[in-house]
Amino acid sequence: MLIGDDTKTIATLDNRIDKTTIVGLLRKLPEYELVGRTFAIRRAKEGDIDGIIEVYQKAFAEPPWNETWNDKQVLESMLFNLSARKPIMLVAESENKIIGLTWGCGIPIEKFPFLANRITPESTSYVAEVAVDGNYRKEGVGKSLTRGYMKLASRDGIQKIVLRTDKSNIAAMALYYSLGFQEMINQTNEQILDPEYPSRVYLSVNIG
Ligand SMILES: CC(C)(COP(=O)(O)OP(=O)(O)OC[C@H]1O[C@@H](n2cnc3c(N)ncnc32)[C@H](O)[C@@H]1OP(=O)(O)O)[C@@H](O)C(=O)NCCC(=O)NCCS
Repeated sequence: MLIGDDTKTIATLDNRIDKTTIVGLLRKLPEYELVGRTFAIRRAKEGDIDGIIEVYQKAFAEPPWNETWNDKQVLESMLFNLSARKPIMLVAESENKIIGLTWGCGIPIEKFPFLANRITPESTSYVAEVAVDGNYRKEGVGKSLTRGYMKLASRDGIQKIVLRTDKSNIAAMALYYSLGFQEMINQTNEQILDPEYPSRVYLSVNIG
């Protein structure tokens, strides 16, 4: 889970959240489709919601996250993202099963004030989530999802992608490095760390 202060996000959202609202927003997502030999990457659709919840819950229950997400919380996280500026939400599918996901949006800069002088918020997208089912890892799914995200963002005028991950997450660090992401540094050349979660680093890549 990459967007911080989750409890605050959840507390500010409408309690009456249901799938209907999400379905309406999913229909507005930009089109994307890449069909590979063993899996396809495409924009998320209505029928994917249960599969998305399952992949999300399992992936973020693993170390280093060790998080417990109930269905409503995952839906709220999706809704937050889908309601934001320039939302992107992609899934990976294999044999009619959701095996991976990514989502993000134009960076909600109010959540990351310490990045404000390092980026241009209007042309920066924040990848909030990337997750792949444990049975389908190291097969290029995460990379294809993130590449798809970068392509869609670029199409929408985004010039920089930012994300946050945990330094100890070897798989995630390898994934993002393999796509050209680098650790963000401040004016005095120090790594930008999250004030709330010091083990997490911010990575960025220019795509413009
Ligand atoms: C991180 C994650 C999405 C990677 O997904 P994936 O589909 O296995 O990744 P890919 O197969 O596309 O691999 C991408 C690159 O990372 C490398 N990689 C992936 N997992 C790795 C691991 N455990 N150790 C070392 N390298 C790894 C691959 O070799 C590949 O490098 P290459 O393209 O240079 O050969 C997946 O491990 C996951 O869902 N983890 C749990 C949720 C999570 O932590 N998400 C990230 C939050 S920031």
